[in-house]
Amino acid sequence: MKKITKAVFPVAGMGSRFLPATKATAKEMLPVVDKPLIQYAVEEAVAAGITDMVFITGRNKRAIEDHFDKAYELEATLEAQGKTELLRIVQEVVPKHINCIYIRQAEPLGLGHAVLCAQPVIQDEPFAVILADDLIDGAVPIVQQMVSVFARHQCSVLGVQDVPRSQTSQYGIVSATNMEPNLARVHGIVEKPRPEVAPSTLAVVGRYILTPRIFHHLAQIRPGAGGEIQLTDGIAALMQEEKLLAYRFEGIRYDCGSKLGYLKAQIAFGLKHEELRAEFAEYLKTVP
Ligand code: UTP
Repeated sequence: MKKITKAVFPVAGMGSRFLPATKATAKEMLPVVDKPLIQYAVEEAVAAGITDMVFITGRNKRAIEDHFDKAYELEATLEAQGKTELLRIVQEVVPKHINCIYIRQAEPLGLGHAVLCAQPVIQDEPFAVILADDLIDGAVPIVQQMVSVFARHQCSVLGVQDVPRSQTSQYGIVSATNMEPNLARVHGIVEKPRPEVAPSTLAVVGRYILTPRIFHHLAQIRPGAGGEIQLTDGIAALMQEEKLLAYRFEGIRYDCGSKLGYLKAQIAFGLKHEELRAEFAEYLKTVP
């Protein structure tokens, strides 16, 4: 029985939809209330028992490395000022038993290429891929739900969600046969199909459990939709050889790669925030 102990966080995208905010920093460093998106993603992995966090970084890697590193000067200053609660928050960004590993993707050649960059660290193990700009709020963290599915089936699992047909061209879309509630066997996957040709409305969102065989396929595929090396194309090839499941996760997804999704996340997480929720809810009532 294989266990998932490693997660890959591709954070080397251009983040062009968020310019100019992403001119000098990664999109995944944008905060929702008081935490950057990437920290929510790492916390989700930690909750699933994952211990090795592999970040695929690009030109804006500094802020992400610094965020998960020890901040000696900041900690010393907070300590000297007696700000113990803030000191605790800074020190608890990443638990002590977690390893953070950084790999540079020299050029943003696509999500599939970013995942392939993780091969030297992942080697021959199944692993999770988490796209931090898909912020998903679930009573049980989503990666944990998917790790449980993997534990039972020992095969690749895609996190999926039904989307309006008009939006299929923004996602990888699967065709699948239901096996049990929330779980289906995938027999087709296509990247960004137009609504009139989409095989279904079941969209792959930013959570994957993949077997290491994916690397073999990613190394062979040619650039696809948008001239990028698409993870979807690698998964389509993997599916020809191995069982592939689609898991309808339980939770609410905020597409924080888009401005509207990001604003929705701010409101939802603001209304859940311990310190802010009462005052924020009052304020929202006054918004015309
Ligand atoms: P997106 O498709 O959202 O692209 O990438 P993007 O470049 O980040 O954003 P826009 O569309 O220009 O606004 C999906 C995920 O894959 C990562 C991104 O960081 C994001 O988490 N990615 C994408 C890479 O790491 N490398 C790439 O070459 C492409």
